[in-house]
Amino acid sequence: MVREILIWPDPILKQKARPVVQVDESIRTLVKDMFETMYAADGVGLAAPQVGVLQRVIVLDTRPRQPESQPIAMINPEIIALEGKMTYNEACLSIPGEAEDVDRAAMVTVKFLDTEGREQTLTCDGLLSIAVQHETDHLNGTVFVDHVSTLKRELIRKRMKRVKASRENRPSA
Ligand code: NI
Repeated sequence: MVREILIWPDPILKQKARPVVQVDESIRTLVKDMFETMYAADGVGLAAPQVGVLQRVIVLDTRPRQPESQPIAMINPEIIALEGKMTYNEACLSIPGEAEDVDRAAMVTVKFLDTEGREQTLTCDGLLSIAVQHETDHLNGTVFVDHVSTLKRELIRKRMKRVKASRENRPSA
């Protein structure tokens, strides 16, 4: 089921998400819905708070840019190592139509649980590394515009106000 994606700023997007205690059917349903929602919106990553769920779950699929990669869901992801530097022009499904350069680490090692509750560790670079950092930020109440200048952020905030107003005026189907 495709879920509604919250638009920034939203109080839920500023909150810290809770760790998942048990990887069960409800988490697997959430993961399935998050993939459907991400693909419907043409994104490469999505975090549970973006669909209003304050749990530490992210989904990623960077195949459009990294054909060798795989769709991947991470439960309770924890970045355990960062290496190097990279600047990437980031976008976010919660901040439609905007993109800004953000400084990140080039390489990331992340520990997480898969959808069977097994512990996994992944080291990655390129877009997947950026996406892991961007999505784990969401779990801590941070969005990419928190990494840009106040001036840019305030301009984006104004534009998002107009996006929200136009969505609210749209007749519901
Ligand atoms: Ni995002």
